[in-house]
Amino acid sequence: MELLKEKIKQEGIAVNEHILKVDSFINHQIEPGLMQEIGKNIADHFRDRGITKIAAIESSGIAPALMTSVALDVPLIILKKQPSKILNQDLYQTVVTSFTKETNYELTLSKKYISAEDHVLIVDDFLANGEAATAALRLLRMSHATIAGLAVLIEKSFQPGHDKLVSQGVEVYALAQITEMAENFILFKE
Ligand code: G4P
Repeated sequence: MELLKEKIKQEGIAVNEHILKVDSFINHQIEPGLMQEIGKNIADHFRDRGITKIAAIESSGIAPALMTSVALDVPLIILKKQPSKILNQDLYQTVVTSFTKETNYELTLSKKYISAEDHVLIVDDFLANGEAATAALRLLRMSHATIAGLAVLIEKSFQPGHDKLVSQGVEVYALAQITEMAENFILFKE
């Protein structure tokens, strides 16, 4: 998506070869017009695939996922991060390891909002190691829902997430793919 790539070129900050800061329009402040276009773009790609729900991973996935859900006119479910490991019969739960943040957390979803009849599109901001997306997949599959795909705004293609998801049979749709980064340098896949 050219609009997103241009924005990344203008305002994205490559801190080093691993981390891209996009606080001014995705992670800390959100630009609504851009987010709306992102939602429409993702919706257009996945339209007519029988999607019944959009799933967002808390918290930065919520904005683009909401815009996608508006464009497709289907509900948005939020996969919530919780520190607790207390088992709860009303929830699907799974543990996620974040390599970037070096933490473990529990991803949860109430059984009330998902069923085997659902066909779900997962939307998130970044695809890096793919741990969060893989956990989202695991969680949704506990309900026997089917997965339409994973849409991400920014894929860091030099990290293993993309291949990890594709090898599990998931279509990955990335609006901007970065193949290489260094301090103040970002290379996009054409
Ligand atoms: P993974 O989800 O692909 O496995 O990646 P990882 O565990 O490495 O990422 C952990 C968190 O860091 C995720 O956010 C992910 O979106 C974010 N992240 C990964 N790489 C980058 C990057 O280059 N730039 C930025 N800005 N974020 C990155 P999270 O913990 O789920 O946080 P949030 O959704 O609450 O913002």
